[in-house]
Amino acid sequence: MKISPTTKAPNEQEASAIVIGIWQDESLSAAAADLDQACNGRISKLIEMEEVSAAENSVAVLYAVEGVPSPVIALVGQGKRDEQAPGLAFRVAGAATKALCDKERASIAYYLDFEDLSDAVCGAMVACVGQDLYRAESKLHAPGEMIWYSSNSDTLELGEVLGQATNLTRELVNRPACDIYPESLAEWCQEMAQSTGLEIEVWDEDRLKSENCNSLLAVAQGSDRPPRLVIMKHMHGPDGQAPLALVGKGVTFDSGGLSLKPGDAMIDMKMDMAGSATVVGAMNAIANLKLPVNVIAVIGCVENMVSGSSYKLGDVLTARSGKTIEVLNTDAEGRLVLADALNVACELGAAKLVDLATLTGACMVALGRYHAGLMTNDQAWCDAVAAAAEKCGEPVWQLPMDKVFADAIKSNIADIKNVGDGRWGGAMTAAKLLEEFVEDLPWTHMDIAGPAFGDKPRPWIDAGATGTYVRTLVELARQFGQG
Ligand code: BES
Ligand code: MN
Ligand code: ZN
Repeated sequence: MKISPTTKAPNEQEASAIVIGIWQDESLSAAAADLDQACNGRISKLIEMEEVSAAENSVAVLYAVEGVPSPVIALVGQGKRDEQAPGLAFRVAGAATKALCDKERASIAYYLDFEDLSDAVCGAMVACVGQDLYRAESKLHAPGEMIWYSSNSDTLELGEVLGQATNLTRELVNRPACDIYPESLAEWCQEMAQSTGLEIEVWDEDRLKSENCNSLLAVAQGSDRPPRLVIMKHMHGPDGQAPLALVGKGVTFDSGGLSLKPGDAMIDMKMDMAGSATVVGAMNAIANLKLPVNVIAVIGCVENMVSGSSYKLGDVLTARSGKTIEVLNTDAEGRLVLADALNVACELGAAKLVDLATLTGACMVALGRYHAGLMTNDQAWCDAVAAAAEKCGEPVWQLPMDKVFADAIKSNIADIKNVGDGRWGGAMTAAKLLEEFVEDLPWTHMDIAGPAFGDKPRPWIDAGATGTYVRTLVELARQFGQG
C-alpha cells in the first residue's frame, strides 16, 4: 500500500473514497466546509437533522453526492474537540477505514482535523488488516493507496513505520502455534533484523544449556519444539550509552503443562507470545526510524507442553542467575522464561528494563481487558513508562509491589516458588518473582494479558491481536535517547 500526501481540497479529490472528520458541537473544519459548499450544504444539513452524528467513531457513508468527484464520502465523528482523549486520532482514522475496507478500493483520501497525523496513519493501517491470514476470501480489503491531507510527509512516514510495526506484531500473534513456534519465531526475527539492519543473535538449545538458562529450558523440555532465545541490538546512541532493554515473554503456546489448562482457557493460548511480538514490532520501528539511542531486545521463546519429558510439580530449577525456584504450578511458566531472559538483559549491560508479558489471568481480573498492569521497583522509571503509554493512548494502570507479595513466594525448600500462597494477588506475586532477576536495575513489568488480544472486534480494529504498546515502546525509546 502506498501512502502519500495531498493538498487538494476534498471537493477536488478524485479518490475512490474520502474520509471527512467532524467535531461535535462546532462548525465544520475548513476542508469539510469546502466539501459542504461543493454539494450545496448537504453535509451540514444532514448534521443539523441529526442524520449524521459527530460522536466519537461514528461513521456515516454517503454515495454519489452531487458536486463531489469522489463517489463515496465517509463522515467520521471525532467527538468533542475539548474532550479529546489520547489515541483519538488512531481510533477515528481506524473506524472510518474499517468501515470502508468492506470492499476493494483503489484509494482513500483522508481529511482529518488532527495536529499530528502519525497516529491516524497508524490507526488506518491497523484497521484494514485483521484476521484474514487463513481465509480464502478476505473480509477486510486494504486500499491500494492512502492519501492524506497534509503537507508534512515526515509525519506520514512516521505513521507508516508505526503502522507496519504494529501489524507485524499483530500478524505474529494472530498466527497459530502450528506456524509460530520457537524456531520459526526466531526466524521471523532474523528476517526482520536483516531487512532493518538490527544486530541479532539466536541461542539454540545447546547454547541455552551452556548458558545455564535452566529455568527457561525447564518450561521447554516437555515440547518437541526446541526453545530459542533471541537477542537483537539497535546501537545508534552515543558511544558508551548503556542500553534500554526490552524483554518479552515468547510462549508460542501455553497448554499449562502438567498443570493442564481446561480447553476453554487454552483456546487463545497461541497469543502467549504477544509480549515478545510487541518487542519485535517495537524494534522494527526503532530500527526503521533510526532512533539515536541504544536499545537491546531479549525474547525467550518456548512452547509449554505436556509429555513424558515435561517439567513437574515439585521440581527445583536453578535459574541462570543461580537462584533456585520451586515449581508448584507448571502453568506459571512465563515468569520462569522471563527469569532467565531478564538475567541475560542485565548481563548485556542494560541501564533500564521493561518487560512485556501475557503473564497472568489475575491481571485481567484486576484491570479488565483494556489495561496493562504496571509493576516496578523504581517509581520514576514506571512513571516514564506510564507517561509514554498515556501519550500514545494505550491504557495502563499501576499495581502495588509491597513486601507482602514477596512473602507469598517464599519457598520451603528453594529460594522462591513460582506461585503465591493461594490465588489472591496473582499479578503481583508473578511480578515479585521477576523482580528477583533484575539486579536492582530500574525495571518496569507490563502485564499485557488483557489488552494484547481482543475477543471481539471494535469499531477501529478487528478481533484478535491488537499490537497495543508497540507505540508506547517506541515513544519510550525516543525519550530514553533524549534523557
Ligand atoms: N499465559 C497465562 C496467562 C494468561 C491467561 C494470558 C489468560 C492471557 C489470557 C499464564 O501463563 C498463566 O497460565 N498464568 C496462570 C498463573 C497461575 C497458574 C499462578 C493464571 O493466570 O492462571
Ligand atoms: Mn501458563
Ligand atoms: Zn503463559
